[in-house]
Amino acid sequence: MRKKTVRDIDVNGKRVLVRVDYNVPLDAGKILDDSRIRATLPTISYLREQQAKLILMSHLGRPKGRRDEALSLRPVAKRLGELLGGEASLRRPGVDHGDTPSPESGASLREARVQMTDCCVGAEVQRAAHSLGEGEILLLENLRFHPEEEANDREYAKALASLGEVYVNDAFGTAHRAHASTEGVARLLPAVAGFLMEKEIEFLSRAVENPERPYAAIIGGAKISTKMAVLEHLLSKVDKLLVGGGMANTFLKAEGFNVGESLVEDDYLEQAKNVMRHAEEKGVRLLLPADVIVAERSAADSPARRVSVKDVPEGWRIMDVGETTIDVFARALQDCRMVVWNGPMGVIEMAPFAHGSHRLAGVIANLGEATTIIGGGETAAVVEQVGLASRFSHVSTGGGASLEFLEGKELPGVAALMDA
Ligand code: 3PG
Repeated sequence: MRKKTVRDIDVNGKRVLVRVDYNVPLDAGKILDDSRIRATLPTISYLREQQAKLILMSHLGRPKGRRDEALSLRPVAKRLGELLGGEASLRRPGVDHGDTPSPESGASLREARVQMTDCCVGAEVQRAAHSLGEGEILLLENLRFHPEEEANDREYAKALASLGEVYVNDAFGTAHRAHASTEGVARLLPAVAGFLMEKEIEFLSRAVENPERPYAAIIGGAKISTKMAVLEHLLSKVDKLLVGGGMANTFLKAEGFNVGESLVEDDYLEQAKNVMRHAEEKGVRLLLPADVIVAERSAADSPARRVSVKDVPEGWRIMDVGETTIDVFARALQDCRMVVWNGPMGVIEMAPFAHGSHRLAGVIANLGEATTIIGGGETAAVVEQVGLASRFSHVSTGGGASLEFLEGKELPGVAALMDA
């Protein structure tokens, strides 16, 4: 799948409306992880170098169509300004940027002050967007303060579109939503992908359309119900399928093991059996945990021990995979040329049960030549936690979006962009 990008369109001196995904984790106004903001810097820098006037728009959280000050994008504007202020690459050789804004443009390319409006549509926003100088940046307030955003309302999309002359979508994380700012606007302006969107599509398309072989997918996470579609789709693509996390319990129970008080989705026992049968029919090697960490209670301070999956004590629950499982997974991955990982191996919110996921991150990071892709969300958080994100070929910024991509679904925010 190839889409036109910012490189394929004239943005010079134009007002460029950029959809970004700044839906970052916040705690009382403090940004806990700014990866999604940092991931948009290449597109922002490029557009500023082209003297474009940038109008950035994003959602934050789920305010359900009402204004909610706790979900204002103001902390994001501040963080973005800090990140751009320190960015030396914006100093272009041979050009005197000076330290003060030039009177013509009102902006210094070296230091970007990010302006913000209190709303994302209306007269004030129109004025702010139309008075931007070259290289200047305006961030609109949370798009989801209006119910029309999620309803993909045409008038709302028109109001957003009227702010720009070109539309760039760099919000891969929201590309699975057919909202006004992701899909509606793309129908009204020349619409291209930003560099982040381009990279996401490139890597995830390879995993879906053209994988290097042997190809292994590792699927984890709490619930099998949320991963059925991806499991079935991947079975027709991969050579090996490694399953861990809470969802593996349903497979283990379907195989006849006693899983004690572990999280199990009994409604999915038949489907788990189908996955195992389909794997056998397609010649896919399916690996389940061989040993697990069990706890008496679902609590970080609970007594816990490692047992074989044959010996889960009555009344105890599975919280993580064991060392033998990671050893077996590591051996299965050694010859792989492509590895995709989505979903943790255990209850990572509790430190004692994050060990399996952390060890697996190390194993994949050391695979050498293989193309390694992290499917966003919690798995991306795991590799960030252990400081290994840079050792993977690609860490997706999309949770739900990367999962839907790996399920083989067309994402509305991607589909609406111009084909290359
Ligand atoms: C995400 O964090 O997955 C995206 O920003 C989409 O958010 P949403 O699930 O609230 O649509």
